[in-house]
Amino acid sequence: MQEDFFDASDKEAALVSNLAAHVAQLRAEINRHAHAYYVLDTPTIPDAEYDRLFSELQTLELQHPDLKTPDTPTLRVGGTALPEFTQVQHAVAMLSLNNGFEEADIIAFDRRVKDGLATQQPVEYAIDLKFDGLAINLRYIDGVFAQAATRGDGFTGEDVTENIRTIRTIPLRLNMAKPPAILDVRGEVLMFKSDFDNLNARQRAAGAKEFANPRNAAAGSLRQLNSKITALRSLRFFPYGIGALEGVALPESHRALLDWYRAIGIPVCEENAVVQGVEALLEFYQAIQIKRASLPYEIDGVVYKVNAFSAQQTLGFVSRAPRFAIAHKFPAQEALTTVLDIEVQVGRTGAITPVARLAPVFVGGVTVTNATLHNEEEIQRKDIRIGDTVSVRRAGDVIPEVVVSILDKRPLDALTFVMPTQCPVCGSAIVKLEDEAIARCSGGWIKCAAQRKGGLVHFASRKAMNIDGMGEQLIDQLVYRHVVTTAADLYKLGFVALAELDRMGEKSAKNILAALETSKTTTFARFIYALGIRHVGEATAKDLAARFGNVDALVNADEEQLLAVSDVGPVVARSLRNFFSDPLNIELIQQLIASGIHWPEVQQYADAVLPLTGKTLVLTGSLPTLNRDQASELIEKNGGKVAGSVSKKTSYVVAGDDAGSKLLKAQELNITVLSEAELLKMCSGNAET
Ligand code: IVH
Repeated sequence: MQEDFFDASDKEAALVSNLAAHVAQLRAEINRHAHAYYVLDTPTIPDAEYDRLFSELQTLELQHPDLKTPDTPTLRVGGTALPEFTQVQHAVAMLSLNNGFEEADIIAFDRRVKDGLATQQPVEYAIDLKFDGLAINLRYIDGVFAQAATRGDGFTGEDVTENIRTIRTIPLRLNMAKPPAILDVRGEVLMFKSDFDNLNARQRAAGAKEFANPRNAAAGSLRQLNSKITALRSLRFFPYGIGALEGVALPESHRALLDWYRAIGIPVCEENAVVQGVEALLEFYQAIQIKRASLPYEIDGVVYKVNAFSAQQTLGFVSRAPRFAIAHKFPAQEALTTVLDIEVQVGRTGAITPVARLAPVFVGGVTVTNATLHNEEEIQRKDIRIGDTVSVRRAGDVIPEVVVSILDKRPLDALTFVMPTQCPVCGSAIVKLEDEAIARCSGGWIKCAAQRKGGLVHFASRKAMNIDGMGEQLIDQLVYRHVVTTAADLYKLGFVALAELDRMGEKSAKNILAALETSKTTTFARFIYALGIRHVGEATAKDLAARFGNVDALVNADEEQLLAVSDVGPVVARSLRNFFSDPLNIELIQQLIASGIHWPEVQQYADAVLPLTGKTLVLTGSLPTLNRDQASELIEKNGGKVAGSVSKKTSYVVAGDDAGSKLLKAQELNITVLSEAELLKMCSGNAET
């Protein structure tokens, strides 16, 4: 009996150790594939195979809980919800940085560093990006990820271990044979811009509130009491510092620290540098500002640190910030202000745009007093009310926009915006087509001075007739004094009428007349663009000019001929036909030409007459008579292009027998499907291949 018992137990022990070995191997394999996928961006196995390995490990761990380890990848998918976050004392305080905005601040910083180090030589600095996320401390005990905490007040933070565990680029075990007993890695948790866009698209689809920016999204995701939600949010981590370290010697410099992190498996942001002296810091700052928009994540500045840790130690800290480092921040691009009022503006096509009048606020280097609210739906979606405190963003040259309303600060008497039913300029009804988000004034340019004005500003603008000096203010006066109604009236302006206007001397009046005269020599494309036909931008105007060559041909072109122009689709063709079928527009064109506007004859496209010019076609299935090469050759000979996959840019899909997913896609996108016979008919006269 006894013997038997021992025998069985031995067998069992052998089985268990076999299983333990198998689980360990499985875990190592999953970790290897996950690292290749998430960190190196080069998947090593198909997703389905990865999923299979993962669920095998999950099942085994469920059956044998004792085989579960703290670094097992199955913990990355999140666990049960916490009632609240527990507090964590930081072993070494998490301090903040002093900020500099001007070059002078950085020059002064460098001066202080040199004084502190008693040197006149250029100092060696390490430069990192200032990530716009949240500071986190990762604690590794004996090389295994053990705890993560937020910065909190710098001394005590919150335990977000389970949430941080879901970040795939953070190793759960350090890649080193003799790990330190304790290592506190400091860095930033952030969300990449693309992950942010995806998250907001999902929020929108689910009818949930969208996040204002990637930082808020990262913060919201990290503060989830249910780590299963965090696991769905694609967060990332970049290290930039160190807290406690026991059992291993500290590297000698900031750069050496980052190199060490990379070596032990913690991915480091590669946009960094080590430079000598303050001029190089300022050069890096300039260069990164140009690169900023194309980075996959958001940054709000750069951080300069004295590179050598020994020098850092010499310099030490003042109150809660290091003397050896400074953040060189970009000018703020988002700022808080209040909505004083919401008014509507009428554009040249009658589009009614609600605009927030704001208490002046300095953002992105300029003072902003207005921000576009785009349309009524947008105001409702963002729930923006008059009286609200809002966050305003200005990016580069674009029009400032309201990002979000701060609901905590909403006054009790905040007013909801109501779209007017009548145009504030001409009183005509405001109408909204069902399939459009934009409401429009129905007055047209005859009734509505705002549309007239907008049309004239466009007509005179640089890319259109380029009438030097004929700007918005001048046109404003001309329109409101009823001196000018149509563009043709501009060329009838006389010296007296102009000289009478506000802020217009004799000299300026003469200059304007000269500019009007000069503008008469133009190009056909500019002339078409200047007419301000809806949906006809500069590029389309150029194509139309090249295709039709003269006014008569363009005015008389039917929809089919218009559709033959590259970039002209049904919407543009219809808009052109509408414009040219209005006798008032024809009269305007005649008057403009009678006033002397002219252009050199247009060199028409040699290939513009081909039936498929500008069209992109996709072939699918087997055609009755032509093989793929013959069909492609036919299309190309007729001016078209052949593409491999169906997208919104596809003009036609030519489908034969056994057509597959491309045909479905075409139907989904409402793209015209042609048979071989229809294709041949389109190309008739040009069909021999
Ligand atoms: S170093 C002792 N480096 O900025 C100084 N901080 O204002 C430790 N931050 O709370 C900070 N990118 O959240 C450092 N490359 C970087 C950083 C960075 C972002 C944040 C961090 C910190 C705050 C300090």
